[in-house]
Amino acid sequence: MKAIITGASSGMGAEMARILSRKGYDVVLVSRTRENLEKVAKDIKTKVDIVPLDLTVEANCHKLYDLYKDEDIDILINCAGSGVYGFLDKTNMEDELQSIKLDVIAVQILTKLFYEKFMRENKGRIMNVSSIAAFQPGPLMASYYASKVYVYSLTIALYEEIRRRKRNVKVHVLCPGPTKTNFIKKCGVSFAVKEMSCERVCEYAIKQMFKDKLIIIPGPLYKLMKFAERFSPETFTIKFAYRMQKKKADRLVKQEKRRAKLESKKQVK
Ligand SMILES: NC(=O)c1ccc[n+]([C@@H]2O[C@H](COP(=O)([O-])OP(=O)(O)OC[C@H]3O[C@@H](n4cnc5c(N)ncnc54)[C@H](OP(=O)(O)O)[C@@H]3O)[C@@H](O)[C@H]2O)c1
Repeated sequence: MKAIITGASSGMGAEMARILSRKGYDVVLVSRTRENLEKVAKDIKTKVDIVPLDLTVEANCHKLYDLYKDEDIDILINCAGSGVYGFLDKTNMEDELQSIKLDVIAVQILTKLFYEKFMRENKGRIMNVSSIAAFQPGPLMASYYASKVYVYSLTIALYEEIRRRKRNVKVHVLCPGPTKTNFIKKCGVSFAVKEMSCERVCEYAIKQMFKDKLIIIPGPLYKLMKFAERFSPETFTIKFAYRMQKKKADRLVKQEKRRAKLESKKQVK
């Protein structure tokens, strides 16, 4: 039994690799940083391959597939992801595009290639890591939220393709809420709600995956949120999403007001 996990050098990818290894799976750990992958590999008791690749480079996604296309792969978890925080008119264009390459393009390429393989073989699972960000637009992380909608929609569409053709391939979309990992620090976001523990989120995710659940939402609050979203107009949910990321947003708004004040003072002089 073998699983490929992207974003396996930290956070949820690393934790899901550890859990799958405890269940007897050999694991393929993918991310950019060899050193961090090697640290994770120390906890793995089954066979482990370390594949350092930058998945924002399309050719590297194909390379990963080529490495494993002739092997017996049971699970692909597309977990690598990044996001950019801030008002869209203030964020860096290149950072935004790099995130989209990872969160959308890499997920698209790897999902399609392994989906083709799994459909041919009539076996295999793909778990794509989206987010509760897929449930409503996200002011202050606008592109990230949009990316996660893509991942969510893509995965759910495949479920119906598989069902119609009665094939034995499984797809899953994991939609965590704020979770304690490096992600929050890297994006520079801080949430108004308490983060869930990474271990709890991943234990739940893997358990639900083996129960063949399509949409996996860890935590009762976020399940409720998904339910409530059906009855809430988007003009309301965007306010909620803004509040979720509020602490840092307040600081940004203050900074912007201060800057505007200084500039208007300068103009008066
Ligand atoms: N934490 C949250 O609150 C939260 C909530 C909902 C959804 N998510 C999603 O969960 C997933 C995992 O994030 P996490 O929270 O576990 O964060 P994390 O600890 O920052 O993990 C991100 C992983 O992606 C890898 N990565 C980043 N850029 C890459 C690239 N260009 N090529 C290959 N790998 C790359 C990182 O490794 P290297 O730096 O070594 O490349 C790392 O292993 C992401 O898709 C994220 O959007 C997170």
